Amino acid sequence: DGLMRRFNDSIRFDRRMYAADVAGSVAYAGALARAGLISGEERDRLVAGLERVRDEFDAGTFEVVTSDEDIHTAVERRLGELLGPVAGKLHTGRSRNDQVAADLRLYLLVEMDALREGLIGLQAAIVAQAEAHMDVIMPGYTHLQPAQPVLFSHWLMAYFWKFQRDRERLADVARRTRICPLGAGALAGNPFDVDREALAADLGFDAVTENSVDAVSDRDYVVEFLGWAALVQVHLSGLAEDLVIWASRAFGFVELAEAYTTGSSLMPQKKNPDALELMRGKSGRVIGHLTGLLTMLKGLPSSYNKDLQEDKEALFDVVDTLKIELPVTAGVIRTLAVNGDRMRAALDDALLATDLADYLVRRGVPFRESHHLVGRAVRRAEALGASLQELSLDVYRAIHPAFDEDVYQVFDFERSVQARTTTGGTAPSAVREQIRRAKKKMGNEEVMRK
Ligand code: ARG
Repeated sequence: DGLMRRFNDSIRFDRRMYAADVAGSVAYAGALARAGLISGEERDRLVAGLERVRDEFDAGTFEVVTSDEDIHTAVERRLGELLGPVAGKLHTGRSRNDQVAADLRLYLLVEMDALREGLIGLQAAIVAQAEAHMDVIMPGYTHLQPAQPVLFSHWLMAYFWKFQRDRERLADVARRTRICPLGAGALAGNPFDVDREALAADLGFDAVTENSVDAVSDRDYVVEFLGWAALVQVHLSGLAEDLVIWASRAFGFVELAEAYTTGSSLMPQKKNPDALELMRGKSGRVIGHLTGLLTMLKGLPSSYNKDLQEDKEALFDVVDTLKIELPVTAGVIRTLAVNGDRMRAALDDALLATDLADYLVRRGVPFRESHHLVGRAVRRAEALGASLQELSLDVYRAIHPAFDEDVYQVFDFERSVQARTTTGGTAPSAVREQIRRAKKKMGNEEVMRK
């Protein structure tokens, strides 16, 4: 039935796996020859034919015909046209079930490399901006309420470490993706004694799957990958949200380059942060694909079921989304204009209330008490319409006798920042050390490449 064909076919979207499919078949032809099932001459003809098919895909000249259900049947059909009956020997002992499982892993491993590069590019952009603005102090926020002064570089580097963990997680998923299911057959294994280990090694896999029933149904690595991607999206979305706020007129902490903004069709003055809004917005679809995949997998009977074909569009969409998003984000960061003056103007002494409490602590007042006493000073300043710095020493002394003339030295943003020297703190010395460690994580030449 025509509608059924449209419903069932996956060639529309799985043709992008053609290089993986050809590579898998080239290796499988080798395995058949090693097992004595085809001659060396037949293997060479199959390999040459497969390479021609791949060239046709590369050149965009491959013609899909209506009977091509998916990439696997399309490649085999074309191979038959090119080679005649010998093409029919390729599928000996193989099923599309172990074939598609191998193809998807091979395809994903290539894309993972590109995504790792994307993360590195973004990290490099972060490090470059952090190094370029080591003298910029801004209000740090919790609950989006002004909290304590921090270096702008310190704020930005927070994202470096999120993306660093993303890189580590990706490497971990790749480890479990690099396992070869070929030779599992439809579900029961291969009766022709193909050397699965050699087959796996030929394709760059680290090992072979241990159970053929599991091998044809295992999509855990797709779930892990989508879970990984969803978390990357959460990180990108957070970064985007920070920058949307800071690029707003009210904040004006940063300005986005025109290359990454758009105008309004109505309001001539507008410069909209569309790149960032899309980054934030695309989280929904990526997280949605993870949920969709888990829901599809839940409750499937063992081994292969056609439901599994639904893994691909989700995976491909996520790969495409991140492959464009990561370099766009790197571009946004690289071209960001940082307005240190606006950040400084947003600093007020209230941000130093904690430092004031710490001042009392250094004079022997227990922190819980000093916290309470500074609260009183804050309320007093509010009542007088003054800043903390404008309160007289008499007022401070009335609050606690440990306050002395040198209390006014507290009201110094540089000093506040410089005091936080412990590892991971915002003192310039600590941030420099942090950047040094970050670069070491990346390898220096990657930083140079940006
Ligand atoms: N297009 C299928 C998929 O993506 C290939 C495997 C088909 N196997 C089968 N027994 N019908 O999952």
